[in-house]
Amino acid sequence: MTSVTVRTPAKINLALMVDPPRADGYHPLATVYQAVSLFDHVTAQPAADGQLTLELVSDDQPQAVLDLPTDDQNLALRAARLLARHTGAGQGARLRLRKAIPVAGGMAGGSSDAAAALVACDALWQTAVPAEELRVLAADLGSDVPFCLLGGTAIGSGRGELVSPALTLGRYHWVVAVADEGLPTAAVYAELDRLRADPSEQGRRHQRGGLGQVSGRADLAVPRPLMNALRTGDAAALGRALENELQPAALSLRPGLSELLNVARACGALGAMVSGSGPTCVFLANDEAHALDIGVGLTSAGGCRTVHRVVGPVLGARRVSG
Ligand code: C5P
Repeated sequence: MTSVTVRTPAKINLALMVDPPRADGYHPLATVYQAVSLFDHVTAQPAADGQLTLELVSDDQPQAVLDLPTDDQNLALRAARLLARHTGAGQGARLRLRKAIPVAGGMAGGSSDAAAALVACDALWQTAVPAEELRVLAADLGSDVPFCLLGGTAIGSGRGELVSPALTLGRYHWVVAVADEGLPTAAVYAELDRLRADPSEQGRRHQRGGLGQVSGRADLAVPRPLMNALRTGDAAALGRALENELQPAALSLRPGLSELLNVARACGALGAMVSGSGPTCVFLANDEAHALDIGVGLTSAGGCRTVHRVVGPVLGARRVSG
């Protein structure tokens, strides 16, 4: 085989309920993931020297992409190494990564690249690792990686790595606003813990929907109205049911994002929310034309680097050639 290319999607969280951290530092979650049509591509080619290497496809890319590490700090390269160790494949690979998913945007860009590297190297090396084994390797790499393999719409639990497909009807039109500067996921979780531990924040934020639970919930689950909306394909009900308990923490670290949420609401967005750990924000539109209107409103108001119109759900990491 000479070359395998895998297309892999960004994710958004339609609901993200977060409990206080476990002993290992991770926060138990109940989340609804949806894969959306903003894709990175990973190409794996044979390596004449048997090494595993990664390069970025650098044409017309923002600086944040060009600044990404290409060594073992890059999750895609770590994924390929993990698969090589697991299968005993020793022939190496040259990985080429073309990015469109925002870097450090809360849309699982790095996790999605790792999922793509697993799929691409498994095909290149013809190791045929069963799906369940691939899922276990993915969970080792990061909480969002198993979902990036699965795609579609899915419920996530544990630290996010336990995923099961959700029944949904219809196709949803989203507008994605990418902020200028990324936010590290770990910093946003730490900010949530800080806000929850601060009694003055608890009182102040109560009127704005609160900070979720300070102590763990026995019944940590995704909101029922949201699952009903997805089952019936009711976009207006879905917009009303969107919920992200990490949002207060993301807004605390990036107060300017509130303005983006307000602009989209003024444009009639059915729902407006920080995506995952942020700073990327997502807005639900009625249809393609409405998404275009919201996009124009956001662009003319300023405050974000780029605006994308996407649809969901879409497939997870899949071979598109080779
Ligand atoms: O799993 P992943 O490596 O993507 O997580 C990045 C960071 O986000 C973790 O190191 C942790 O600080 C935080 N995190 C968390 N609880 C989760 C998922 C992630 O605290 N459920």
